[in-house]
Amino acid sequence: SPITIPDLTKCQIASASAPSGPADTLFFNCCLPISGPIVDFSFDRYKPTRKHIRRPAHRASEEHIAKYIKAYELMRALPDTDPRSLTVQANIHCSFCNGGYLQAGVNGNIPLQVHFSWLFLPWHRWYLYFHERILGSLIGDPGFSLLYWNWDDQVYGGNEIPELFTRVNTSLYDAKRRAEVQPPTIVPLAATTLPNMSASIVTNQNLNNMYQSVVTASTASLFMGGALRAGVDLSNVTVLNNTLGGSLENGLHTAIHYYVGDPTTQLLQNMGNFGTAARDPLFYSHHSNVDRLWEVWRLNMPDGERADHTDPDFLNAEFVFYDENANMVRVKVSDVLDNQKLGVYYKKGRSDHVWINYSP
Ligand code: C2O
Repeated sequence: SPITIPDLTKCQIASASAPSGPADTLFFNCCLPISGPIVDFSFDRYKPTRKHIRRPAHRASEEHIAKYIKAYELMRALPDTDPRSLTVQANIHCSFCNGGYLQAGVNGNIPLQVHFSWLFLPWHRWYLYFHERILGSLIGDPGFSLLYWNWDDQVYGGNEIPELFTRVNTSLYDAKRRAEVQPPTIVPLAATTLPNMSASIVTNQNLNNMYQSVVTASTASLFMGGALRAGVDLSNVTVLNNTLGGSLENGLHTAIHYYVGDPTTQLLQNMGNFGTAARDPLFYSHHSNVDRLWEVWRLNMPDGERADHTDPDFLNAEFVFYDENANMVRVKVSDVLDNQKLGVYYKKGRSDHVWINYSP
């Protein structure tokens, strides 16, 4: 049977231990505020009034950047008890990834985990959807759009931390990032690539990794990840021994987390572990690109359209988020498989063709 939403009144201390960096464990109280009855998502209730057009962050206009800074400023300023605050937004990630809640309706205590399986892409798409709506509502702009970190772009400068996130003393800045990967250093797309390799070697490996992880990974299981049904326990799975996760998650996505996290902190904070990653506004821009690549994989591959999982345990899996009015919303995977239905559009990546047509 599919994963269903957990009992939010039962929350426990979450913990993280990362495969790299100091071996200690971090503990988090990332329990979520309960804000009234849970409503069910419907396309009617959340009808988009404006399109959300997500553009590449490194080519953003100053006008868009100013809105971005303002929106995160307001989000950071909300009290920690407000579901729309950056603290609670980050805790959503922490609690559903680090054992804050247990799976409902199963025997035994099995932590809920939205990484390492076919849940990864749809869960994060929903997460971005509500996060973007909250930011938009804070600045009174229903068409506000996230900017995607175009790290797959090895040609036009997309593959370095986008400059807007490095503006010290703004709401987009996070001091806990690896000092060596500040722009213009390019980011390797495999956690095994050494940061001291020459730029041309890294670029070439990146194109190869993009090609292998997206073009070659032609089935839903390879690309999106394998089945996670109620009762499956992933509590001993780590970033390194994760065999169920898909190629987009395991390789490219995780490499970015690894290289952005600060190795002088415990467990590569902030971006390097699930418990703290979403405290960095760069997280949502990173995940916008992950989400975009899911769409590119589905629609724009040389061999034609590809198919998502169709298993009912995938389609009927349920999650819970907060909307822009701080209401709790129950959502289903089947409602998030088409971004356009949600009013979300991606501006095409200028250099997608470069890795799509790469010959290994
Ligand atoms: Cu929920 Cu990039 O991890």
